[in-house]
Amino acid sequence: MQLRVPSVRIMSPSRMTPEQASRLTLAEQHAWYRRFASRRALLRNGVAGAGPLVAGPALLGAAAAGPATAGTAVAGTTARRRPASPMLLAKSSWISGSAVPPFGRHLAYGSDPASQISVAWQVPVQVSDPFIRVGTTPWDLGERIGAEVRALTTQVSDTRPVGSVPPSAAATVEQFYLHARLTGLRPGHTYFYSLGHRGWDASQGFAAIGSFSTAPAGRIPFTFTAFGDQGVSYDAVGTSALIRAQNPAFHLHAGDVSYAESGGRGLVTDSYDPRVWDSFFTEIEPAAASIPWQVAVGNHEMEAWYSPDGYGGQHARFDFPGEASSAARPTYYSFVYGNVGIVSLDANDVSFEIPANHGYTGGTQVAWLARTLAGLRRQPDVDFIVAYFHHCAYCTCAVHGSEGGARKFFVPLFDQFGVDLVINGHNHIYERTDPLRGGVSRPAPIGSTVRPATEGTTYIAAGGAGVGLYDFGAPDSYQGHVRAVPSVPGFVNEAGGSTVTETVTWSRTRFTGYCLLVMDSKPGWRPGAPSTLIVRGLSEDGSEVDRVVLAR
Ligand SMILES: [Fe+2]
Ligand SMILES: [Fe+2]
Repeated sequence: MQLRVPSVRIMSPSRMTPEQASRLTLAEQHAWYRRFASRRALLRNGVAGAGPLVAGPALLGAAAAGPATAGTAVAGTTARRRPASPMLLAKSSWISGSAVPPFGRHLAYGSDPASQISVAWQVPVQVSDPFIRVGTTPWDLGERIGAEVRALTTQVSDTRPVGSVPPSAAATVEQFYLHARLTGLRPGHTYFYSLGHRGWDASQGFAAIGSFSTAPAGRIPFTFTAFGDQGVSYDAVGTSALIRAQNPAFHLHAGDVSYAESGGRGLVTDSYDPRVWDSFFTEIEPAAASIPWQVAVGNHEMEAWYSPDGYGGQHARFDFPGEASSAARPTYYSFVYGNVGIVSLDANDVSFEIPANHGYTGGTQVAWLARTLAGLRRQPDVDFIVAYFHHCAYCTCAVHGSEGGARKFFVPLFDQFGVDLVINGHNHIYERTDPLRGGVSRPAPIGSTVRPATEGTTYIAAGGAGVGLYDFGAPDSYQGHVRAVPSVPGFVNEAGGSTVTETVTWSRTRFTGYCLLVMDSKPGWRPGAPSTLIVRGLSEDGSEVDRVVLAR
Protein backbone atom coordinates (compact mmCIF):
# COMPACT_ATOMS: atom_id res chain seq x y z
CA MET A 1 0.00 0.00 0.00
CA GLN A 2 1.32 3.44 -0.89
CA LEU A 3 1.39 5.58 2.24
CA ARG A 4 0.35 9.20 2.08
CA VAL A 5 2.94 11.01 4.14
CA PRO A 6 1.11 14.15 5.22
CA SER A 7 2.43 17.58 4.40
CA VAL A 8 2.62 18.69 8.01
CA ARG A 9 5.41 21.08 8.96
CA ILE A 10 7.95 19.12 10.96
CA MET A 11 10.68 21.75 11.42
CA SER A 12 8.82 22.92 14.50
CA PRO A 13 8.68 20.70 17.57
CA SER A 14 4.98 21.44 17.82
CA ARG A 15 2.76 18.40 17.43
CA MET A 16 0.37 17.57 14.67
CA THR A 17 -3.11 18.77 15.52
CA PRO A 18 -5.81 16.22 16.34
CA GLU A 19 -7.76 17.39 13.30
CA GLN A 20 -4.78 16.72 11.03
CA ALA A 21 -4.17 13.33 12.65
CA SER A 22 -7.79 12.29 12.27
CA ARG A 23 -7.45 12.44 8.47
CA LEU A 24 -4.71 9.80 8.50
CA THR A 25 -4.55 6.07 9.04
CA LEU A 26 -2.43 4.66 11.85
CA ALA A 27 0.26 3.70 9.34
CA GLU A 28 0.29 7.20 7.87
CA GLN A 29 0.49 8.78 11.32
CA HIS A 30 3.39 6.51 12.16
CA ALA A 31 5.16 7.48 8.92
CA TRP A 32 4.79 11.15 9.89
CA TYR A 33 5.89 10.42 13.42
CA ARG A 34 9.08 8.68 12.31
CA ARG A 35 9.98 11.57 10.04
CA PHE A 36 9.39 14.02 12.88
CA ALA A 37 11.27 11.96 15.44
CA SER A 38 14.20 11.36 13.09
CA ARG A 39 14.50 15.07 12.36
CA ARG A 40 14.37 15.80 16.07
CA ALA A 41 17.13 13.27 16.77
CA LEU A 42 19.32 14.82 14.08
CA LEU A 43 18.85 18.28 15.50
CA ARG A 44 19.61 17.02 19.00
CA ASN A 45 22.74 15.13 17.99
CA GLY A 46 24.11 17.66 15.56
CA VAL A 47 25.04 15.30 12.73
CA ALA A 48 23.55 12.12 11.40
CA GLY A 49 25.04 9.03 12.88
CA ALA A 50 26.40 10.65 15.99
CA GLY A 51 25.09 9.54 19.35
CA PRO A 52 22.33 7.10 20.16
CA LEU A 53 20.04 6.33 17.26
CA VAL A 54 16.74 6.04 19.01
CA ALA A 55 14.27 7.26 16.44
CA GLY A 56 11.27 7.52 18.67
CA PRO A 57 9.38 4.53 20.00
CA ALA A 58 10.55 1.39 18.32
CA LEU A 59 9.48 -2.21 18.60
CA LEU A 60 12.78 -3.94 18.87
CA GLY A 61 13.50 -7.19 17.16
CA ALA A 62 13.27 -10.52 18.87
CA ALA A 63 16.46 -12.00 20.25
CA ALA A 64 15.94 -15.57 21.34
CA ALA A 65 17.82 -16.67 24.43
CA GLY A 66 19.96 -13.57 24.54
CA PRO A 67 20.15 -10.11 25.97
CA ALA A 68 17.78 -7.42 24.82
CA THR A 69 19.06 -5.80 21.65
CA ALA A 70 18.48 -2.08 21.71
CA GLY A 71 17.98 0.03 18.65
CA THR A 72 16.23 -2.19 16.11
CA ALA A 73 13.44 -0.13 14.67
CA VAL A 74 10.58 -1.79 12.87
CA ALA A 75 8.74 0.09 10.17
CA GLY A 76 5.94 -1.98 8.75
CA THR A 77 7.16 -5.53 8.84
CA THR A 78 10.73 -4.83 7.76
CA ALA A 79 13.32 -4.70 10.53
CA ARG A 80 16.55 -2.77 10.18
CA ARG A 81 19.19 -3.27 12.83
CA ARG A 82 20.99 -0.29 14.32
CA PRO A 83 23.82 -0.18 16.82
CA ALA A 84 22.85 -0.68 20.41
CA SER A 85 22.37 2.55 22.28
CA PRO A 86 25.42 3.32 24.46
CA MET A 87 23.09 5.11 26.84
CA LEU A 88 20.95 2.01 27.33
CA LEU A 89 23.89 -0.25 27.89
CA ALA A 90 25.42 2.18 30.34
CA LYS A 91 22.18 2.35 32.28
CA SER A 92 21.90 -1.36 32.89
CA SER A 93 25.54 -2.42 32.97
CA TRP A 94 25.90 -1.62 36.66
CA ILE A 95 22.71 -3.42 37.69
CA SER A 96 23.24 -7.04 38.65
CA GLY A 97 20.69 -9.54 37.37
CA SER A 98 20.23 -10.65 40.97
CA ALA A 99 18.53 -7.30 41.65
CA VAL A 100 16.07 -7.47 38.75
CA PRO A 101 12.94 -9.46 39.63
CA PRO A 102 10.59 -10.48 36.82
CA PHE A 103 7.04 -9.12 37.12
CA GLY A 104 3.77 -8.93 35.22
CA ARG A 105 3.50 -12.59 34.20
CA HIS A 106 0.68 -13.25 31.73
CA LEU A 107 -0.23 -16.33 29.73
CA ALA A 108 -1.85 -16.88 26.35
CA TYR A 109 -2.79 -19.96 24.38
CA GLY A 110 -1.25 -20.85 21.09
CA SER A 111 -3.52 -22.00 18.27
CA ASP A 112 -4.01 -25.31 20.10
CA PRO A 113 -4.82 -24.84 23.82
CA ALA A 114 -4.29 -28.56 24.40
CA SER A 115 -0.59 -28.42 23.53
CA GLN A 116 0.60 -24.78 23.20
CA ILE A 117 0.90 -21.91 25.62
CA SER A 118 2.94 -18.72 25.74
CA VAL A 119 4.33 -17.27 28.94
CA ALA A 120 5.17 -13.55 28.93
CA TRP A 121 6.67 -11.37 31.62
CA GLN A 122 8.56 -8.13 32.08
CA VAL A 123 11.80 -6.94 33.62
CA PRO A 124 12.50 -3.30 34.51
CA VAL A 125 15.94 -3.16 32.84
CA GLN A 126 17.92 -5.19 30.36
CA VAL A 127 18.88 -8.67 31.47
CA SER A 128 21.05 -11.36 29.95
CA ASP A 129 20.05 -14.90 29.01
CA PRO A 130 16.36 -14.82 30.06
CA PHE A 131 14.79 -18.24 30.42
CA ILE A 132 11.86 -20.28 31.67
CA ARG A 133 11.91 -23.64 33.39
CA VAL A 134 8.89 -25.90 33.02
CA GLY A 135 7.97 -29.14 34.74
CA THR A 136 5.08 -31.30 35.84
CA THR A 137 5.98 -30.86 39.50
CA PRO A 138 7.08 -27.65 41.25
CA TRP A 139 10.20 -29.31 42.59
CA ASP A 140 11.49 -30.52 39.22
CA LEU A 141 11.27 -27.71 36.68
CA GLY A 142 13.74 -29.04 34.17
CA GLU A 143 16.34 -27.31 32.03
CA ARG A 144 16.35 -23.68 31.03
CA ILE A 145 14.43 -22.80 27.86
CA GLY A 146 15.58 -19.54 26.30
CA ALA A 147 13.11 -16.65 26.12
CA GLU A 148 12.53 -14.09 23.39
CA VAL A 149 13.13 -10.41 24.19
CA ARG A 150 10.78 -7.79 22.81
CA ALA A 151 11.93 -4.39 23.98
CA LEU A 152 10.01 -1.19 23.53
CA THR A 153 11.57 2.27 23.65
CA THR A 154 9.38 5.36 23.87
CA GLN A 155 10.56 8.96 23.83
CA VAL A 156 9.44 10.63 27.04
CA SER A 157 8.87 13.83 25.06
CA ASP A 158 6.11 12.00 23.18
CA THR A 159 4.26 10.92 26.33
CA ARG A 160 1.92 12.68 28.67
CA PRO A 161 2.57 11.23 32.11
CA VAL A 162 -0.33 10.16 34.25
CA GLY A 163 -0.27 12.53 37.21
CA SER A 164 2.03 15.48 37.61
CA VAL A 165 5.29 13.69 38.31
CA PRO A 166 7.53 13.28 35.27
CA PRO A 167 8.49 9.63 34.73
CA SER A 168 12.24 10.08 35.11
CA ALA A 169 15.15 12.18 34.01
CA ALA A 170 15.88 9.82 31.14
CA ALA A 171 14.92 10.70 27.58
CA THR A 172 13.19 7.41 27.00
CA VAL A 173 10.91 4.89 28.68
CA GLU A 174 12.37 1.45 28.12
CA GLN A 175 10.23 -1.63 28.59
CA PHE A 176 11.53 -5.16 28.27
CA TYR A 177 8.99 -7.91 27.60
CA LEU A 178 10.08 -11.53 27.61
CA HIS A 179 8.22 -14.37 25.92
CA ALA A 180 8.50 -18.14 25.87
CA ARG A 181 6.32 -20.18 23.52
CA LEU A 182 5.82 -23.69 24.80
CA THR A 183 4.69 -26.41 22.41
CA GLY A 184 4.32 -30.16 22.54
CA LEU A 185 2.54 -30.06 25.90
CA ARG A 186 0.21 -32.87 26.91
CA PRO A 187 -3.57 -32.25 26.95
CA GLY A 188 -5.25 -31.92 30.31
CA HIS A 189 -2.04 -31.54 32.29
CA THR A 190 -0.97 -28.99 34.84
CA TYR A 191 2.54 -27.60 34.43
CA PHE A 192 4.65 -25.49 36.76
CA TYR A 193 7.12 -22.84 35.66
CA SER A 194 9.68 -20.39 36.95
CA LEU A 195 11.38 -17.47 35.25
CA GLY A 196 14.90 -16.18 35.35
CA HIS A 197 17.91 -14.59 33.70
CA ARG A 198 21.62 -14.34 34.39
CA GLY A 199 21.90 -13.73 38.13
CA TRP A 200 18.28 -14.65 38.88
CA ASP A 201 16.80 -18.13 39.03
CA ALA A 202 13.38 -18.17 40.68
CA SER A 203 13.31 -21.94 40.77
CA GLN A 204 15.29 -21.48 43.99
CA GLY A 205 12.11 -20.34 45.72
CA PHE A 206 8.64 -21.86 45.58
CA ALA A 207 6.92 -18.50 46.07
CA ALA A 208 7.74 -17.39 42.53
CA ILE A 209 6.61 -20.60 40.80
CA GLY A 210 3.59 -20.30 38.53
CA SER A 211 1.38 -22.91 36.95
CA PHE A 212 -0.97 -23.42 34.05
CA SER A 213 -3.14 -26.19 32.65
CA THR A 214 -3.60 -27.27 29.05
CA ALA A 215 -7.01 -27.94 27.55
CA PRO A 216 -8.19 -31.49 28.15
CA ALA A 217 -8.99 -33.87 25.35
CA GLY A 218 -12.62 -34.90 25.09
CA ARG A 219 -15.91 -33.40 26.16
CA ILE A 220 -15.37 -32.15 29.68
CA PRO A 221 -17.27 -29.33 31.48
CA PHE A 222 -15.31 -26.13 31.95
CA THR A 223 -15.73 -22.45 32.77
CA PHE A 224 -14.36 -19.34 31.07
CA THR A 225 -14.78 -15.64 31.79
CA ALA A 226 -14.86 -12.39 29.83
CA PHE A 227 -15.01 -8.62 30.15
CA GLY A 228 -13.72 -5.49 28.47
CA ASP A 229 -12.57 -1.98 29.36
CA GLN A 230 -10.40 -2.60 32.38
CA GLY A 231 -7.69 -0.02 33.00
CA VAL A 232 -5.88 0.32 36.31
CA SER A 233 -8.21 1.07 39.19
CA TYR A 234 -9.67 -0.18 42.44
CA ASP A 235 -12.59 -1.67 40.53
CA ALA A 236 -10.30 -3.31 37.97
CA VAL A 237 -8.51 -5.05 40.84
CA GLY A 238 -11.91 -6.19 42.09
CA THR A 239 -13.07 -7.67 38.81
CA SER A 240 -9.67 -9.34 38.29
CA ALA A 241 -10.02 -10.99 41.69
CA LEU A 242 -13.52 -12.06 40.69
CA ILE A 243 -12.02 -13.91 37.71
CA ARG A 244 -9.84 -15.99 40.03
CA ALA A 245 -12.86 -16.84 42.16
CA GLN A 246 -14.51 -18.51 39.16
CA ASN A 247 -11.49 -20.79 38.54
CA PRO A 248 -11.86 -20.39 34.77
CA ALA A 249 -9.86 -22.28 32.17
CA PHE A 250 -9.16 -18.96 30.39
CA HIS A 251 -10.26 -15.33 30.28
CA LEU A 252 -11.32 -13.29 27.25
CA HIS A 253 -10.53 -9.57 27.26
CA ALA A 254 -12.72 -7.67 24.80
CA GLY A 255 -10.35 -4.73 24.44
CA ASP A 256 -9.55 -1.33 26.00
CA VAL A 257 -7.00 -3.07 28.13
CA SER A 258 -4.76 -0.70 30.12
CA TYR A 259 -5.78 2.79 28.89
CA ALA A 260 -2.13 3.81 28.63
CA GLU A 261 -3.34 5.41 25.40
CA SER A 262 -5.99 7.41 27.17
CA GLY A 263 -7.26 9.40 24.19
CA GLY A 264 -8.72 6.35 22.51
CA ARG A 265 -8.99 7.83 19.03
CA GLY A 266 -5.92 6.17 17.54
CA LEU A 267 -4.26 9.53 16.94
CA VAL A 268 -0.63 10.47 17.36
CA THR A 269 -1.96 13.49 19.25
CA ASP A 270 -3.71 11.35 21.89
CA SER A 271 -2.43 11.30 25.47
CA TYR A 272 -0.19 8.34 26.19
CA ASP A 273 1.90 7.07 29.10
CA PRO A 274 3.52 3.68 28.40
CA ARG A 275 4.28 3.15 32.10
CA VAL A 276 0.57 2.50 32.69
CA TRP A 277 1.21 -0.89 31.07
CA ASP A 278 3.67 -1.70 33.89
CA SER A 279 0.94 -0.98 36.44
CA PHE A 280 -1.56 -2.95 34.41
CA PHE A 281 0.53 -6.11 34.18
CA THR A 282 1.22 -5.92 37.90
CA GLU A 283 -2.53 -5.57 38.51
CA ILE A 284 -3.51 -8.65 36.49
CA GLU A 285 -0.57 -10.90 37.42
CA PRO A 286 -2.38 -12.72 40.27
CA ALA A 287 -4.89 -13.94 37.66
CA ALA A 288 -2.97 -13.87 34.39
CA ALA A 289 0.06 -15.80 35.70
CA SER A 290 -2.06 -18.95 35.73
CA ILE A 291 -5.13 -18.13 33.58
CA PRO A 292 -4.55 -17.56 29.85
CA TRP A 293 -5.50 -13.94 29.18
CA GLN A 294 -6.76 -13.75 25.59
CA VAL A 295 -6.83 -10.18 24.37
CA ALA A 296 -8.84 -8.54 21.61
CA VAL A 297 -7.68 -5.05 20.64
CA GLY A 298 -9.89 -2.06 21.38
CA ASN A 299 -9.66 1.53 20.28
CA HIS A 300 -7.31 2.28 23.20
CA GLU A 301 -4.86 -0.34 21.84
CA MET A 302 -4.16 1.74 18.71
CA GLU A 303 -0.86 3.40 19.66
CA ALA A 304 0.34 5.47 16.72
CA TRP A 305 3.91 5.57 18.03
CA TYR A 306 4.48 1.92 17.19
CA SER A 307 4.39 0.12 13.86
CA PRO A 308 2.72 -1.78 12.26
CA ASP A 309 -0.70 -0.14 12.28
CA GLY A 310 -0.35 1.15 15.81
CA TYR A 311 -0.09 -2.38 17.18
CA GLY A 312 3.68 -2.71 17.61
CA GLY A 313 3.32 -2.20 21.35
CA GLN A 314 0.65 -4.90 21.60
CA HIS A 315 2.84 -7.37 19.71
CA ALA A 316 5.66 -6.61 22.16
CA ARG A 317 3.42 -7.18 25.19
CA PHE A 318 1.09 -10.01 24.16
CA ASP A 319 1.24 -13.29 22.29
CA PHE A 320 -1.51 -13.54 19.73
CA PRO A 321 -2.16 -17.12 18.62
CA GLY A 322 -1.09 -17.68 15.05
CA GLU A 323 2.03 -17.85 13.00
CA ALA A 324 5.48 -18.10 14.47
CA SER A 325 6.58 -14.54 13.72
CA SER A 326 5.38 -12.12 16.37
CA ALA A 327 5.43 -9.10 14.05
CA ALA A 328 3.42 -10.88 11.34
CA ARG A 329 0.82 -12.30 13.68
CA PRO A 330 -2.64 -10.79 13.13
CA THR A 331 -4.51 -9.31 16.07
CA TYR A 332 -7.47 -11.59 15.22
CA TYR A 333 -7.38 -15.32 15.84
CA SER A 334 -9.34 -18.37 16.89
CA PHE A 335 -8.90 -21.49 18.95
CA VAL A 336 -11.01 -24.40 20.12
CA TYR A 337 -11.29 -25.35 23.78
CA GLY A 338 -13.31 -28.51 24.39
CA ASN A 339 -16.65 -28.13 22.62
CA VAL A 340 -16.42 -24.33 22.19
CA GLY A 341 -14.87 -22.48 19.26
CA ILE A 342 -13.54 -19.06 20.24
CA VAL A 343 -13.09 -16.28 17.66
CA SER A 344 -11.33 -13.01 18.56
CA LEU A 345 -11.79 -10.13 16.12
CA ASP A 346 -10.22 -6.71 15.59
CA ALA A 347 -13.20 -4.35 15.40
CA ASN A 348 -10.95 -1.34 14.76
CA ASP A 349 -10.78 -2.75 11.23
CA VAL A 350 -14.52 -2.15 10.71
CA SER A 351 -15.26 0.76 13.04
CA PHE A 352 -17.09 3.77 11.60
CA GLU A 353 -17.09 5.53 14.97
CA ILE A 354 -13.30 5.57 15.47
CA PRO A 355 -11.94 5.03 11.97
CA ALA A 356 -8.16 5.36 12.49
CA ASN A 357 -7.65 1.74 11.43
CA HIS A 358 -10.84 1.29 9.44
CA GLY A 359 -10.16 -1.08 6.55
CA TYR A 360 -6.50 -1.57 7.43
CA THR A 361 -6.61 -5.30 6.66
CA GLY A 362 -8.07 -4.63 3.21
CA GLY A 363 -10.85 -7.14 3.80
CA THR A 364 -8.47 -9.90 4.86
CA GLN A 365 -9.98 -10.21 8.33
CA VAL A 366 -13.58 -10.56 7.12
CA ALA A 367 -12.55 -13.20 4.58
CA TRP A 368 -10.65 -14.99 7.35
CA LEU A 369 -13.74 -14.79 9.57
CA ALA A 370 -15.91 -16.45 6.92
CA ARG A 371 -13.38 -19.26 6.47
CA THR A 372 -12.91 -19.69 10.21
CA LEU A 373 -16.61 -19.86 11.04
CA ALA A 374 -17.22 -22.32 8.22
CA GLY A 375 -14.34 -24.45 9.48
CA LEU A 376 -15.61 -24.42 13.06
CA ARG A 377 -19.10 -25.43 11.96
CA ARG A 378 -17.59 -28.39 10.09
CA GLN A 379 -15.97 -29.68 13.29
CA PRO A 380 -18.33 -32.22 14.90
CA ASP A 381 -16.81 -31.64 18.34
CA VAL A 382 -17.63 -27.92 18.29
CA ASP A 383 -21.10 -27.23 19.70
CA PHE A 384 -20.89 -23.52 20.44
CA ILE A 385 -19.14 -20.64 18.72
CA VAL A 386 -18.33 -17.57 20.82
CA ALA A 387 -16.99 -14.43 19.10
CA TYR A 388 -15.59 -11.48 20.99
CA PHE A 389 -14.39 -8.09 19.89
CA HIS A 390 -14.42 -4.56 21.19
CA HIS A 391 -17.08 -2.35 19.58
CA CYS A 392 -20.67 -3.36 20.21
CA ALA A 393 -22.75 -4.75 17.39
CA TYR A 394 -25.90 -4.21 19.44
CA CYS A 395 -25.96 -1.92 22.47
CA THR A 396 -28.20 0.89 23.68
CA CYS A 397 -25.60 2.57 25.91
CA ALA A 398 -25.83 6.33 25.45
CA VAL A 399 -22.08 6.88 24.96
CA HIS A 400 -20.88 4.66 22.10
CA GLY A 401 -24.13 3.01 21.03
CA SER A 402 -23.86 0.33 18.35
CA GLU A 403 -21.14 0.02 15.71
CA GLY A 404 -22.60 -0.05 12.22
CA GLY A 405 -19.35 -1.48 10.89
CA ALA A 406 -19.75 -4.57 13.07
CA ARG A 407 -23.33 -4.96 11.86
CA LYS A 408 -22.26 -4.54 8.23
CA PHE A 409 -19.18 -6.75 8.12
CA PHE A 410 -19.45 -9.24 11.01
CA VAL A 411 -23.14 -9.82 11.80
CA PRO A 412 -24.13 -11.35 8.42
CA LEU A 413 -21.47 -14.01 8.97
CA PHE A 414 -22.65 -14.59 12.54
CA ASP A 415 -26.16 -15.16 11.14
CA GLN A 416 -24.91 -17.39 8.33
CA PHE A 417 -22.84 -19.67 10.54
CA GLY A 418 -25.01 -19.59 13.66
CA VAL A 419 -22.65 -17.92 16.11
CA ASP A 420 -24.14 -18.55 19.53
CA LEU A 421 -22.74 -15.73 21.64
CA VAL A 422 -21.00 -12.43 20.89
CA ILE A 423 -19.13 -10.61 23.67
CA ASN A 424 -18.21 -6.92 23.32
CA GLY A 425 -16.84 -4.08 25.44
CA HIS A 426 -16.41 -0.38 24.52
CA ASN A 427 -19.56 0.66 26.38
CA HIS A 428 -18.74 0.67 30.08
CA ILE A 429 -21.89 -1.11 31.25
CA TYR A 430 -23.49 -4.56 31.08
CA GLU A 431 -26.20 -5.24 28.51
CA ARG A 432 -27.60 -8.47 27.03
CA THR A 433 -29.79 -8.62 23.97
CA ASP A 434 -32.49 -11.07 23.10
CA PRO A 435 -31.30 -13.53 20.43
CA LEU A 436 -31.11 -11.81 17.05
CA ARG A 437 -31.05 -13.14 13.52
CA GLY A 438 -31.48 -10.95 10.48
CA GLY A 439 -32.23 -8.07 12.82
CA VAL A 440 -35.29 -9.91 14.23
CA SER A 441 -35.33 -10.80 17.92
CA ARG A 442 -37.23 -13.15 20.22
CA PRO A 443 -37.76 -12.33 23.92
CA ALA A 444 -35.36 -14.15 26.25
CA PRO A 445 -36.08 -13.14 29.86
CA ILE A 446 -33.46 -13.55 32.57
CA GLY A 447 -33.11 -17.25 33.38
CA SER A 448 -34.61 -18.46 30.11
CA THR A 449 -33.18 -20.94 27.63
CA VAL A 450 -32.21 -19.79 24.13
CA ARG A 451 -31.79 -22.12 21.17
CA PRO A 452 -29.32 -20.27 18.95
CA ALA A 453 -29.71 -22.71 16.06
CA THR A 454 -33.23 -21.43 15.47
CA GLU A 455 -33.44 -18.18 17.44
CA GLY A 456 -30.17 -16.45 16.68
CA THR A 457 -27.17 -14.87 18.37
CA THR A 458 -27.09 -13.40 21.87
CA TYR A 459 -25.01 -10.21 22.12
CA ILE A 460 -23.56 -9.06 25.45
CA ALA A 461 -21.69 -5.85 26.16
CA ALA A 462 -19.57 -6.46 29.25
CA GLY A 463 -17.47 -3.29 29.29
CA GLY A 464 -17.59 -2.73 33.03
CA ALA A 465 -14.23 -4.22 34.01
CA GLY A 466 -12.90 -1.20 35.84
CA VAL A 467 -12.87 2.21 34.14
CA GLY A 468 -15.52 4.90 34.60
CA LEU A 469 -19.08 3.72 33.97
CA TYR A 470 -21.45 5.04 31.30
CA ASP A 471 -25.23 5.53 31.20
CA PHE A 472 -28.21 4.04 29.41
CA GLY A 473 -31.06 6.00 27.92
CA ALA A 474 -33.49 3.66 29.71
CA PRO A 475 -33.77 2.33 33.29
CA ASP A 476 -31.55 -0.53 34.43
CA SER A 477 -33.24 -3.94 34.37
CA TYR A 478 -31.45 -6.91 35.87
CA GLN A 479 -31.97 -9.97 38.05
CA GLY A 480 -34.00 -8.99 41.12
CA HIS A 481 -34.59 -5.54 39.62
CA VAL A 482 -36.53 -6.17 36.39
CA ARG A 483 -38.06 -2.99 34.93
CA ALA A 484 -40.02 -3.79 31.79
CA VAL A 485 -40.14 -1.04 29.18
CA PRO A 486 -41.79 -1.32 25.75
CA SER A 487 -38.69 -0.10 23.89
CA VAL A 488 -35.28 1.43 24.44
CA PRO A 489 -33.65 4.30 22.52
CA GLY A 490 -30.28 3.74 20.89
CA PHE A 491 -28.12 4.81 17.97
CA VAL A 492 -25.83 3.27 15.38
CA ASN A 493 -22.50 4.69 14.20
CA GLU A 494 -22.41 4.78 10.42
CA ALA A 495 -19.92 5.67 7.69
CA GLY A 496 -18.55 9.18 7.65
CA GLY A 497 -19.00 9.69 11.37
CA SER A 498 -22.78 9.95 11.17
CA THR A 499 -25.17 8.33 13.63
CA VAL A 500 -28.64 6.94 13.08
CA THR A 501 -31.06 6.76 15.98
CA GLU A 502 -33.14 3.64 16.55
CA THR A 503 -35.74 2.40 19.00
CA VAL A 504 -35.28 -1.26 19.87
CA THR A 505 -37.01 -4.06 21.73
CA TRP A 506 -34.02 -6.42 21.96
CA SER A 507 -32.40 -4.79 25.01
CA ARG A 508 -33.14 -7.43 27.65
CA THR A 509 -30.76 -6.87 30.58
CA ARG A 510 -29.21 -3.52 31.49
CA PHE A 511 -26.91 -3.07 34.48
CA THR A 512 -24.93 0.07 35.21
CA GLY A 513 -22.10 -1.38 37.25
CA TYR A 514 -18.76 -3.13 37.15
CA CYS A 515 -19.16 -6.67 35.92
CA LEU A 516 -17.73 -9.99 34.83
CA LEU A 517 -19.23 -12.46 32.38
CA VAL A 518 -18.98 -16.18 33.25
CA MET A 519 -19.68 -19.05 30.86
CA ASP A 520 -20.12 -22.63 32.05
CA SER A 521 -19.91 -25.18 29.26
CA LYS A 522 -21.64 -28.49 29.87
CA PRO A 523 -21.12 -30.66 26.80
CA GLY A 524 -23.25 -33.67 25.98
CA TRP A 525 -21.63 -37.07 26.25
CA ARG A 526 -20.96 -37.25 22.50
CA PRO A 527 -21.05 -34.82 19.55
CA GLY A 528 -24.65 -34.01 18.75
CA ALA A 529 -25.92 -34.84 22.23
CA PRO A 530 -27.71 -31.97 24.04
CA SER A 531 -25.18 -29.42 25.31
CA THR A 532 -25.56 -26.17 27.20
CA LEU A 533 -23.58 -22.98 27.67
CA ILE A 534 -24.77 -21.23 30.81
CA VAL A 535 -24.04 -17.50 30.61
CA ARG A 536 -24.01 -15.48 33.82
CA GLY A 537 -23.45 -11.79 34.37
CA LEU A 538 -21.90 -10.99 37.74
CA SER A 539 -21.58 -7.62 39.43
CA GLU A 540 -18.28 -6.61 40.99
CA ASP A 541 -19.32 -8.10 44.34
CA GLY A 542 -19.98 -11.47 42.69
CA SER A 543 -23.77 -11.32 42.83
CA GLU A 544 -25.62 -12.53 39.74
CA VAL A 545 -27.34 -9.83 37.68
CA ASP A 546 -28.17 -11.89 34.60
CA ARG A 547 -28.43 -15.47 33.41
CA VAL A 548 -29.36 -17.17 30.17
CA VAL A 549 -28.84 -20.75 29.01
CA LEU A 550 -27.78 -21.39 25.42
CA ALA A 551 -28.79 -24.88 24.32
CA ARG A 552 -27.88 -26.97 21.28
FE1 LIG B 1 -13.46 1.66 26.94
FE1 LIG C 1 -13.45 1.46 23.61
